[in-house]
Amino acid sequence: MKKSIYDTPIFFERYLKLRENPISLNEIVEKPTMFSLLPDLKGKKVLDLGCGAGGHLFHYLSLGASEVVGLDLSQSMIEQAKSDFAKFFPNQTGCNFYCLPMEQISEIKESEFDVITSSFAFHYIEDFPDLLRKISAKLAPNGILIFSQEHPITTCHKIGERWEKDQNKQQVAYRLNHYREEGLRERNWFQQSFKTYHRTTATIINDLIQAGFQIEKVEEPMLAEQPEWHNEFKDLLHRPPLLFIKSVKK
Ligand SMILES: C[S@@+](CC[C@H](N)C(=O)[O-])C[C@H]1O[C@@H](n2cnc3c(N)ncnc32)[C@H](O)[C@@H]1O
Repeated sequence: MKKSIYDTPIFFERYLKLRENPISLNEIVEKPTMFSLLPDLKGKKVLDLGCGAGGHLFHYLSLGASEVVGLDLSQSMIEQAKSDFAKFFPNQTGCNFYCLPMEQISEIKESEFDVITSSFAFHYIEDFPDLLRKISAKLAPNGILIFSQEHPITTCHKIGERWEKDQNKQQVAYRLNHYREEGLRERNWFQQSFKTYHRTTATIINDLIQAGFQIEKVEEPMLAEQPEWHNEFKDLLHRPPLLFIKSVKK
């Protein structure tokens, strides 16, 4: 049975702590970009893959979505999502959560979603073409898929220091060697090891086209034009941390 690194207690605690910070990559970059790509959600049925503690779904409900479904591999995340949902939306119906790998999306009972989203999670997926076929089967005709994932210039990293630094320890170059070598990456975060998968931008786009999706918009937010965040996110002046793609099932 596939297991989520987010179910390791220390990883989960540290991740939740990180998410409490209002000045995080999620709050400053991911959510605003993801939300800017959403269509009008009034009366729409929305699925979020790798939903974590459900924050995106709560926003979709506030935008008028009629039904929201969250799916995540992590039991701890789903428990957190259910308890937050009961606390903040005590009388709300039309919300369901599944603790499942998104590779098993076919097992959920709901179908014909108007919109499927996924934030910061597709880099955990080994077989992206297979996932896209399964997502397509769960979307209504002209249904929309919007996702963010770690940018391929980030997922490509394999060994050694990511940044080349000068004698004053200032970052001078972000290393892109191994970009062409797609596949497994052994990672480490909060002193815990886990696996992600690297695909080039071309592969991601071609996999979407192959699965019958029409690309509507691609975003690589960097905050270069938002000086108020330059001190907190110095890296992002020069490189995009996330890739966003909005596409439509044709
Ligand atoms: C960085 S968190 C993002 C959570 C949420 N999307 C957000 O933006 O707040 C990544 C999430 O993806 C989930 N995840 C990783 N691999 C998964 C898989 N194969 N199927 C479903 N969820 C997965 C993790 O358990 C975790 O909750």
